[in-house]
Amino acid sequence: MRSYLALSSQWTALFVLLSALCCLFTPAVTVKHENFKTCDQSGFCKRNRAYADTAAGASGWSAPYQIAPESLSWDNGQLQGTILKTINKNGETVRLPITISFLESGSARVTVDEEKRQKGEIDLRHNSIARKERYNEVESWAIVGGLELSKTATESRDTTKTTITYGPEGKFEAVITFAPFGVEFKRDAATQIKFNDRGLLNMEHWRPKIDKAEPEKKEGEEAPAADEESTWWDESFGGATDSKPRGPESVALDITFPGYEHVFGIPEHAGPMSLKETRGGSGNYEDPYRLYNSDVFEYITDSPMTLYGNIPFMQAHRKDSTVGVFWLNAAETWIDIVKQKEAHNPLSLGIGSKTDTKTHWISESGLLDVFVFLGPTPKDVTKAYGELTGYTQLPQSFSIAYHQCRWNYNTDEDVKDVDRKMSKHQIPYDVIWLDIEYTDDKQYFTWDPLQFPDPIGMLNHLDKSERKLVAIIDPHIKNKDGYPIVEDLKKKDLAVHNKDGNIYEGWCWPGSSHWVDCFNPAAIKWWVGLFKYDAFKGSLSNLFVWNDMNEPSVFNGPETTMPKDNLHYENWEHRDVHNLNGMTFHNATYQALLERKKGEIRRPFVLTRAFYSGSQRLGAMWTGDNQASWEHLAIGFPMILNNGIAGYPFAGADVGGFFGNPEKDLLTRWYQAGAFYPFFRGHAHIDTRRREPYLAGEPYTEIMTRALRLRYALLPAWYTAFHEASVDGTPIIRPQYFVYPGDEDGFAIDDQFFVGGTGLLAKPVVTEGAESVDIYLADDEIYYDYFDYEKYSGRGLKTIPAPLEKIPLLMQGGHIIPRKDRPRRSSGLMKWDPYTLVIVLGNDGTATGELYVDDGETFDYQSGAYIHRTFEYKDGVLASTNIGTKGKLTDKYLKAMKSVTVERVVVVGAPKGWEGKKTVKVGSGEANLEFHGEEGNKAAWAVVKKPQISIGEDWKIEF
Ligand code: NOJ
Repeated sequence: MRSYLALSSQWTALFVLLSALCCLFTPAVTVKHENFKTCDQSGFCKRNRAYADTAAGASGWSAPYQIAPESLSWDNGQLQGTILKTINKNGETVRLPITISFLESGSARVTVDEEKRQKGEIDLRHNSIARKERYNEVESWAIVGGLELSKTATESRDTTKTTITYGPEGKFEAVITFAPFGVEFKRDAATQIKFNDRGLLNMEHWRPKIDKAEPEKKEGEEAPAADEESTWWDESFGGATDSKPRGPESVALDITFPGYEHVFGIPEHAGPMSLKETRGGSGNYEDPYRLYNSDVFEYITDSPMTLYGNIPFMQAHRKDSTVGVFWLNAAETWIDIVKQKEAHNPLSLGIGSKTDTKTHWISESGLLDVFVFLGPTPKDVTKAYGELTGYTQLPQSFSIAYHQCRWNYNTDEDVKDVDRKMSKHQIPYDVIWLDIEYTDDKQYFTWDPLQFPDPIGMLNHLDKSERKLVAIIDPHIKNKDGYPIVEDLKKKDLAVHNKDGNIYEGWCWPGSSHWVDCFNPAAIKWWVGLFKYDAFKGSLSNLFVWNDMNEPSVFNGPETTMPKDNLHYENWEHRDVHNLNGMTFHNATYQALLERKKGEIRRPFVLTRAFYSGSQRLGAMWTGDNQASWEHLAIGFPMILNNGIAGYPFAGADVGGFFGNPEKDLLTRWYQAGAFYPFFRGHAHIDTRRREPYLAGEPYTEIMTRALRLRYALLPAWYTAFHEASVDGTPIIRPQYFVYPGDEDGFAIDDQFFVGGTGLLAKPVVTEGAESVDIYLADDEIYYDYFDYEKYSGRGLKTIPAPLEKIPLLMQGGHIIPRKDRPRRSSGLMKWDPYTLVIVLGNDGTATGELYVDDGETFDYQSGAYIHRTFEYKDGVLASTNIGTKGKLTDKYLKAMKSVTVERVVVVGAPKGWEGKKTVKVGSGEANLEFHGEEGNKAAWAVVKKPQISIGEDWKIEF
């Protein structure tokens, strides 16, 4: 059982004892592997791996799937037909309808269903009332656009194959071979992606269970080996039996990326960004990457084990080419990866690399539904994926500042005390968080009357410095007589059901609980109502929400979650929708926070632990219960980078580590790293010692404060990066390969990254006792140390000093970085502060940059209430130019922002010729210039003081 489980039921009694004990030592923690399935313990995964082995081994293996050519029809960008699967030696077949859609965006989609199940012509076992079809509604949750069919795609067919020409300027091609069925996707005539090249396509068709007599075991003989059928039906694990009323129904496909050595994405796993091979061998994993949202207690690093969230989207990358696939399925999924070196083929049309990456995707149920993106750049692929699943939410601006959390702040006085101390130590923060203990007996939407007698007073107190509160609200609803919310939930029948159609009961923090079923539109509507100010008493508009445990985590359930034969809205089995579940809950809370009072429409902020494709539209995620260790500090960046590549960049890890007590140097390094997480929150387990930054003492407190202030100073740059992510999906922190897709030496680098388009290149220290780090430069541009302007140039590794007080952070020449340099208590208090622009001159003496600003709170930006500008420095002139589109609210917003000015312009790498120059021309006036010459290897720099120009207007400064 989970070690913190005991706390949930009788935690008050145990708390004092446990916290006293845990303060004496930091226990070594590690995941309990036996609680989670390996592929071998998961029937469908095992079957499909065995199928793959047979296909690879058997000479003359021929995949049993063929397109019936006469079934094909082409209409309007879409090919439809039937695949026949031969199921026995007599040549009997089952019919699998296939649709291949070519989209206006240049993406393609292959969807395969099963006719018998589609028509409901199957029998369910155990008198199940579950739906008979393969689940076909993932699309309605995950996809929000981009499905328009191509108007220009064309088909040409012969007897063995059909070829579709599509995509931008007709540069893409899909060659669909009939027997065996396979698809080759080409760009510029070169093959980029192959489906079913290894013949691993497998759609387990429906079959009735035929009860056979147990094979006899004669004395002295070994029991006969379990045959494939042993995993077709009822399946047990850890004492729970899954009734599997529809029998075997997995879908699997091999997807090969010829010439691609790296694959990225498919979060969430605690491993390197460049995914590893999974079929054993030195340095490889033994198990496939698993996607099955789970509350993995004390997870370990460098593992393909599943974690809390999943995005079945993968990018494959080789020099100057990126492609991607999106496996639209919400059931438990496993992905095997092998890489195969091949002899160089001179006919391979430009493919330089000799490694193929071969992947094998295996889902327990549902449709086979795969999108294909042919790039050619990482940005093209991310953008195309976002066109389908939506781009990241443009968040409230406070939410990208610093969050102070722990399990728990114990009373409203405690909250105010932490708040005052942060202010007293001049440590900026925007949000303080309440974990589950604030509630009355784990009943959400209530407050513990003794510990939190005055929530309104607490919220008003925070509001004085524009600070916010986030309160946790989980999907399990305490099953207790007299708790109006559970009574309503039951009465209205809005909870998840068990396999018999009765309301499901399981255990979580409150003890016996029910789970709100957010697949049900009526449940969403009900949930939305619970957040209105008059319903959730004691909450104000500066209260936001944290959704935890939404995998869902069920302490007494199989693999700490719900039984797969549970039933959701319209009797879909939990098996079909498990990986979507967290997103549906996150979505309901998002909807709830949109308008808590009539007319008060605000951007919601909701943090989620479980997620799926599309969750990026709803708020932030974090990487769950990490540990206070250097290893966990280090794994944060690869995880966040992979999340960003998979379209969900608003991500962070618990700063300080959730379990255990970090040493002060680890905590300090973690704040320096956290200052570069898109979602930046300190959090700690209930058993840990308090660790608010002011407690560490000097020099640690000051160093952490500096890291926090750095984050705050750069908030304009971060917000601009969030804006970019919200319009085209470009990750907020960007790995090397994303920025330099042609630089092979950078492809696997996942411990350094660029911040948005600012040219800021960071490599926070993640190892103990480091005094320096080696940072990799991909080009010959000049780079300057952010803090002292030390110069670095030339491709390759550069050693940067990194004593404890220093964050390795470089500015790449050629960029202009917007900042706000006045330290304040919260970002809200910086709203009207003036800007500093840092011009980092490149080798060619020019620089460009961007700034996006809006009210950070409402949706007025959608009506033009924003400032979006480019800055360009060229030939001695710095110019600010509008790149926004005028809307209904533009003028009003610009008027309100008129008094917000640029107070300083810093030019790094200032030309020597400026020595002696005292002024610059600003429009028709002048401003003072201060020049600082080179010192050793530190660049010259200059400052324009008080140019008195408004941030929202066009202007020029002539140097
Ligand atoms: C598990 C979450 O991952 C953690 O952050 C939280 O503190 C606990 N649940 C208690 O709510």
